[in-house]
Amino acid sequence: MNYHMPTQIVFGSGTIARLTGIIKEKLKASRPFLVTDKGIAAAGILNRVKEPLAGVPVFDEIEPNPRHATVDRGGELVRALQPDLVIGLGGGSVLDAAKAMALLATNPGLIEDYEGREKYETAPLPVLAIPTTCGTGSEVTWVSVITHTGRRFKMSVKGPLMFPAVALVDPDLLVTLPSHLVASTGLDALTHAVEAYTSKPASPITDALALEASRLIFRYLPAAYKDIRNDAEAREGLMLGSLLAGMAFGNSDVGAVHCLAEAIGSLYDTPHGVANAVFLPYVMEFNYPAAREKYAVIAAAVGFGAANQDEGAGALIRKIKALSHSLSISSFRDLRIPEGDFVAIAQKSFENNSNASNPRPVSADDYLAILKRAHKTNL
Ligand SMILES: [Fe+2]
Repeated sequence: MNYHMPTQIVFGSGTIARLTGIIKEKLKASRPFLVTDKGIAAAGILNRVKEPLAGVPVFDEIEPNPRHATVDRGGELVRALQPDLVIGLGGGSVLDAAKAMALLATNPGLIEDYEGREKYETAPLPVLAIPTTCGTGSEVTWVSVITHTGRRFKMSVKGPLMFPAVALVDPDLLVTLPSHLVASTGLDALTHAVEAYTSKPASPITDALALEASRLIFRYLPAAYKDIRNDAEAREGLMLGSLLAGMAFGNSDVGAVHCLAEAIGSLYDTPHGVANAVFLPYVMEFNYPAAREKYAVIAAAVGFGAANQDEGAGALIRKIKALSHSLSISSFRDLRIPEGDFVAIAQKSFENNSNASNPRPVSADDYLAILKRAHKTNL
């Protein structure tokens, strides 16, 4: 068994106030560079870091499902400015882009040259990751997922030197997160927990993290969705659940839900959390023969009483469907993806690197059947 997660975590409400100290004393940086998106300024979060980041150059062009051309453009800027730290302030797209740009700062060429594992020659710049959503987990993982728009493919760029140096995780940064993003990013986190727990590389360490993440997310996501601005306990519980789920899947893996979500995200720009939420129950039904026992353990950890494994595993799938419904998550049909594209989506899902980690082998035909079932059932 091996567990590697070198990121230092600073977690707690109000910890953003320690930003200056973290940059200067912990990271010994004097020339940081900020990667963010335009939504962060609109949400008022930039105001909270105005003072510590006064005069810091900013790249705020990151879009959802960050694109290779955007990252390459940011990479050129970083090379020209030669900072000593890259700060990512935003959701998963921003954090992934910040990690990729930190790599390009010290290595030549384009981000697509580094697709795969440990393709860099020189260590990337240190990254300070500050998540502003409750789902990504990117602040504690070694991977950066970048969409290659020419290939319509999500590339994974990863390696042991790509973990952020520090994750500054302040649940108070969620106060302005719109409820639909609380729902979709929270369900992304739940998908991380369920897939990390059931995927083939799972270990006792990732299991412990995934079970506690599942408990926290089930307990706090509904209240956070209802009123994240005024419910500090729900904010903290959900943010911690998201962090632990990231620490779980980062050393285990995800599975078929993410394979489908990444295929759909690369083809139609569907938000990652929505795509995961749409497919989670259907993939769980497909995985049932291989994962029933583990589903029952998650159900027990979450607090669903059951007389036997079947009852517990079934309850978990039903409760996840009910949770998605109560959070007003779209159904697959609502996404209006043409049925004529299903074969291509199934093939793309099958080719995803995480397909092999799914607890039950999934063929392209199996993916097609899951897509058809999700489309027909319409949660
Ligand atoms: Fe995810």
